[in-house]
Amino acid sequence: MLLVPSSSGLGHLVFSQRIRGSNPLGITYMNKISSAIADIEKKWFNLLYEYCKKEFSKVNLASHDHTHHRRVWIYAKQIFIELESIGYKVNVNNIEKSIIAIFFHDVGLTRTINEIGHGVESRKLCSQFFRQNLLKTPEDFEEVLKAIEKHDDKEYKSIVYSKKLNRDNIMSILCVSDDLDAFGELGALRYAEIYLLRDNNLKTLPERVIKNLDKRFKNFLAVYGDLKNLVKEQKKRYLLTKEFYKNLQKEIE
Ligand SMILES: [Fe+2]
Ligand SMILES: [Fe+2]
Repeated sequence: MLLVPSSSGLGHLVFSQRIRGSNPLGITYMNKISSAIADIEKKWFNLLYEYCKKEFSKVNLASHDHTHHRRVWIYAKQIFIELESIGYKVNVNNIEKSIIAIFFHDVGLTRTINEIGHGVESRKLCSQFFRQNLLKTPEDFEEVLKAIEKHDDKEYKSIVYSKKLNRDNIMSILCVSDDLDAFGELGALRYAEIYLLRDNNLKTLPERVIKNLDKRFKNFLAVYGDLKNLVKEQKKRYLLTKEFYKNLQKEIE
C-alpha cells in the first residue's frame, strides 16, 4: 500500500524508507512504523513544539530550548525505527506517550536551572498544559508524567539502564534520546552553556564534561548497543565532543 507522507508540513521530520524491490518507479513507500509516527506527529507536533517555543522565549537558555526538544524527538524516532528494523515490535502507544514526555522534559528549566528538580517542574507544567487546554490524556498518563519527573533522577535512571524494562518504554527512549543530544559540535556547545551557568569554573569544565559524556555513551550502549546503524553514527559524535574537551583541557592547563 502506498502511504502518502504526512501533510502536517513536517515532512523533514518524517522518516520514510524504500521497500527494496517493490517500487521500480522509485516511489517512496513508508513502512508501518513511519506511518504511525507521521500520524502521531500530525496530532501532536505543532501543539507541543509551539508551547515549548513560547515557554523558552521567556528565558535565555539556548542549550535546552525548543530546538533541543525537537532534536531529542528526532533521536527517539530513529530508535523506534531501528528497533522495528531488527524485529522488535514497537508499541504505538509508547510512541505517542514519548512525544509528549520529550516535549515537556526540560520545560521546567524555564523555572529552575538546577539539575536535580527541574523534572518536577516540567511534570507540573505538563499536567497544567493538559488541564488548561482540556486535552484528552493518553492511556496511563502517569507513566508520561513519571518519565518527565524522573529523567533527572540518577537513581531512577539506573533502573532504566539496567535493561529491566521494555526496550520501547518511555523512560528509556526519553533518557537515551536526551543523552544523544549531548554529542557532536552542538553537544560541546550545550555542555559549556549549562555547566558554566551552574558552576562558573572553566578550569574544571573539560573534566566534568568528559566524565558525564562517557557515562552517557556507556548507558546508550547498554540499552541500544545492538542498533548498529545508530551506534556507528553516535560513536563518531561522542568521540568528536570528547576530543574537543580533551584538547580544551590541554589548552587551559
Ligand atoms: Fe533535563
Ligand atoms: Fe534534555
